[in-house]
Amino acid sequence: MAFLSDTLARVKPSQTIAVTNKARELAATGRDVIGLGAGEPDFDTPQNIKDAAKRAIDEGRTKYTAVDGIPELKKAICAKFKRENGLDYTPAQVSVATGGKQILYNALMATLNPGDEVIIPAPYWVSYPDMVLLAGGTPVPVAAGIETDFKLTPAQLEAAITPKTKWFIFNSPSNPTGAGYTRDELKALTDVLMRHPQVWIMSDDMYEHLVFDDFEFTSPAQVEPGLYDRTLTCNGVSKAYAMTGWRIGYCAGPVELIKAMGTIQSQSTSNPCSVSQYAALEGLTGPQDFLATNRALFQRRRDLVVGMLNEAKGIVCPKPEGAFYVYPDISACIGKTSAGGASISDDEAFATALLEETGVAVVFGAAFGLSPNFRISYATSDEQLREACARIQGFCAGLS
Ligand SMILES: Cc1ncc(COP(=O)(O)O)c(C=O)c1O
Repeated sequence: MAFLSDTLARVKPSQTIAVTNKARELAATGRDVIGLGAGEPDFDTPQNIKDAAKRAIDEGRTKYTAVDGIPELKKAICAKFKRENGLDYTPAQVSVATGGKQILYNALMATLNPGDEVIIPAPYWVSYPDMVLLAGGTPVPVAAGIETDFKLTPAQLEAAITPKTKWFIFNSPSNPTGAGYTRDELKALTDVLMRHPQVWIMSDDMYEHLVFDDFEFTSPAQVEPGLYDRTLTCNGVSKAYAMTGWRIGYCAGPVELIKAMGTIQSQSTSNPCSVSQYAALEGLTGPQDFLATNRALFQRRRDLVVGMLNEAKGIVCPKPEGAFYVYPDISACIGKTSAGGASISDDEAFATALLEETGVAVVFGAAFGLSPNFRISYATSDEQLREACARIQGFCAGLS
């Protein structure tokens, strides 16, 4: 009898975490490594949020809480959805979990049966297909490449829907491309979804606050109220409030689904960390001015990185609307040989040679389901970014 489960055989470990670990190992040997793999802001959690957490500890808020969130936080989440997205939810329609990751996982675990299909535009956040597999469903990736600015078209969505489609996972702005759908682009997708009542919409709005220029963020249930009853609007404090380590994510949707997610959570992790919930409460209800400061900072870094990468030989780097990633195309580099003698047969070989020869760690496109590309997270200092992009330019110039 095999010791490890068949379920485990269906999934692979997160490759973004694998790249981060590899870069760490190299750095530990004394190499000068610039890690552009990690998907988290490089600045600290705001002081008022840290203070709220300290207060929560001192006041003894250190015990089990309601499984899917304290009432105060649920109320604050309802207020957030009303204020920022024009969406009306009651606390009974809200669930809080240990990160946005657990929110998505709970929803899939609570709803998927064998054979159920989940449409996932590619490139996608690495965890979506594996979570679907863990929950027993079938991921259906649909390639949305550089020719459509990494956005799924209505015709592609229509063609991917079958009687077995249970969910459509929508992520704007996107990890890994930073692409954000305009209201009109999203409306064209929701028009398709209105014709298929069996399809539910999982909107992953994690990068809502990281949008640039005059891009206006919108969410599916906001753009098409007719989808409200089959949309799970998911969000979290990790990216917007620089709180990745606190592990708080949340969502709102139909009560029946929220209850089912609570059942899954009650038999797995129970409540998310009590202290973190009070910290998230302060994040959502406290001063919001630093969001604009961070947006401006990331926009400047995006412009720096896009500009420098487009000067690299063989790289085409679209300018994204949001998040803190770029996803350059490296078609022109494939088939070449690096200055160090590595054969660049695909984007994984590109990323491996780049790390070994220049010390710059990026994540190869195959991890996100669309090649040949790589992802850079520009959530690091301007100085590091300038140096990393210069090394990438040098690496590309050396390809022959
Ligand atoms: C698109 C997307 N969704 C969800 C998450 C999960 O975030 P967390 O579990 O930290 O809330 C991430 C984190 O990288 C992400 O990029």
